[in-house]
Amino acid sequence: METHFINSVTRLRATQLLLCTLAILLFSPTTTLSELPRGFKATPDSSTQTFQPLLSDSTGNFSLGFLRVNKTQLALAVLHVPSSEPFWLANPAQLARWSDRTHLTFNGSLVLSDPQTRTYWSTHTDADHVILLNNSNLLIQSANQNEAPAWQSFDFPTNTLVENQNFTSKMVLISSNGLYSMRLGPDFIGLYANFNEGSDQIYLRHKAMEAKTDIVENKGPIYAQINPDRYLGMYQTGNPLPADVQKFNSYQTPITGFLRVRLEPDGNLVGYFWDGSKWVLDYRAISQTCELPSACGSYGLCTAGNGCSCLDNRTEFASGECFAAQSGDFCSDGIPRNNFWVLRRNGVEPPYKELMGYQTTSSLAQCERLCERNCSCWGAVFNNASGFCYMMDYPIQTLVGVGDETKMGYFKVREGAGRKKMNVGVGVGIGVMCGVVLILVGIVGVWRFRVWKRKRGGGAVKSRFMEQYGGVSPGPYKDLGSASFRSIEMGST
Ligand SMILES: *[C@@H]1O[C@H](CO)[C@@H](O)[C@H](O)[C@H]1NC(C)=O
Ligand SMILES: *[C@@H]1O[C@H](CO)[C@@H](O)[C@H](O)[C@H]1NC(C)=O
Ligand SMILES: *[C@@H]1O[C@H](CO)[C@@H](O)[C@H](O)[C@H]1NC(C)=O
Ligand SMILES: *[C@@H]1O[C@H](CO)[C@@H](O)[C@H](O)[C@H]1NC(C)=O
Ligand SMILES: *[C@@H]1O[C@H](CO)[C@@H](O)[C@H](O)[C@H]1NC(C)=O
Ligand SMILES: *[C@@H]1O[C@H](CO)[C@@H](O)[C@H](O)[C@H]1NC(C)=O
Ligand SMILES: *[C@@H]1O[C@H](CO)[C@@H](O)[C@H](O)[C@H]1NC(C)=O
Repeated sequence: METHFINSVTRLRATQLLLCTLAILLFSPTTTLSELPRGFKATPDSSTQTFQPLLSDSTGNFSLGFLRVNKTQLALAVLHVPSSEPFWLANPAQLARWSDRTHLTFNGSLVLSDPQTRTYWSTHTDADHVILLNNSNLLIQSANQNEAPAWQSFDFPTNTLVENQNFTSKMVLISSNGLYSMRLGPDFIGLYANFNEGSDQIYLRHKAMEAKTDIVENKGPIYAQINPDRYLGMYQTGNPLPADVQKFNSYQTPITGFLRVRLEPDGNLVGYFWDGSKWVLDYRAISQTCELPSACGSYGLCTAGNGCSCLDNRTEFASGECFAAQSGDFCSDGIPRNNFWVLRRNGVEPPYKELMGYQTTSSLAQCERLCERNCSCWGAVFNNASGFCYMMDYPIQTLVGVGDETKMGYFKVREGAGRKKMNVGVGVGIGVMCGVVLILVGIVGVWRFRVWKRKRGGGAVKSRFMEQYGGVSPGPYKDLGSASFRSIEMGST
């Protein structure tokens, strides 16, 4: 009798323990919810290495949570869970600290803040709950679900669009390294490079073909959308027919996998579908590597069939670049004029010359003089046949090698850059080195910092985060090639 009693007490305790554990598992703050109610509050967990989920969609394919960036920083992100790919970031330009002082709260407004110091991001809404749809769209809704959502993440894309998401002229996609952006014009999709502060070089302009229907002036704005019928469409609001159709490879095939496009760190707009276990390349706006805005990085030369080399034939194309990335211009006070040397190379042209402005000059010498005397000019390419003189007001990127030797390039190179070729890996390596090497590294570090500071000159184009989130560090071009090749590999697998 007594043993039986003890047994049942033990059993009761065991059950309690189990329930307790279950309760902790189910209701601990790391559990993902299907809806965030008013009063919701979360803080990042110091033990989380990469991603701390908070809210899931009904399929479990997508999750809203804290994404750790650069070890110490935090972005509020919507992640595609099976691939760990971020589809959307709330605060790409203003990262929060990964610290227990950072809070995500929902009080009608979804707010990411450090209450003692600042607000990183807020939706400025007054609604009842937050949900995540099975297409990755984050919604803030009132209790009446028939009302349009008070706010949706689809209206603020980061670098990714998914099927059925509308991309309007009010929106912009920005690549993770901050170098490239996509915007709509009155009848075209434009891709732009931000190679220098204020430079906004268009490098791809896809005008609507208007095969099925025309875009009628003043009849409403256009928008782009990935159609589940497997194309990137351009539409005029109010007209269901597409004014333009850019077919994906899976167009008119039985493939149904979920579609998305992303503006990649190499400047390409790339489409993928999910085959259940990986993203398969399905579309590329720029299909030839040499047509990318900077396929071989700073002062690179891209030749079809021959890959990357350097504009300066004395420099070997190694570790993905020729000269370290440069910025600013030659106008700043304090810097002596003509603090550059000149590199000439024939048989080259900019990859997007059709989209560049030019002046007509009577000779190569006149074209070079225009650039030499203009402190915001970094280089010029003269076409001897047409007399066109193309000038670049941003640090030289990759030129395309053409057989035609009458296309002549003139390029300014900052003194100090290039000749002594710097090892980009040093910055990364420092963390690993230790002990005796430390002092040496310190000296090298100071020298490098000085060089870097001098070269930064006109100011940073990209935010720190942008460079690092793209995994492109410390020069923004190191990863360009590999990123694009990775996506190409994806396609062939
Ligand atoms: C929610 O909290 C934020 C920050 O604490 C505050 O600025 C905002 O007014 C609050 N919104 C509502 C609807 O209470
Ligand atoms: C996603 O949600 C929509 C509407 O809520 C539904 O029609 C669709 O079947 C869902 N898809 C999946 C994969 O669950
Ligand atoms: C996209 O735009 C179309 C046409 O304006 C509209 O019917 C549709 O609801 C929009 N989709 C989303 C997800 O906002
Ligand atoms: C979503 O989940 C379903 C069921 O697990 C799966 O079949 C589908 O491929 C997933 N879709 C995406 C985009 O991950
Ligand atoms: C490099 O280019 C210069 C100037 O165009 C030329 O004179 C020289 O022969 C070239 N050197 C090599 C190794 O190709
Ligand atoms: C200098 O060159 C830039 C473009 O490279 C051009 O916009 C500007 O007008 C030029 N300035 C002068 C004074 O010619
Ligand atoms: C450039 O064109 C002129 C005539 O238009 C010609 O005389 C000259 O030889 C050409 N120069 C080169 C380097 O092709």
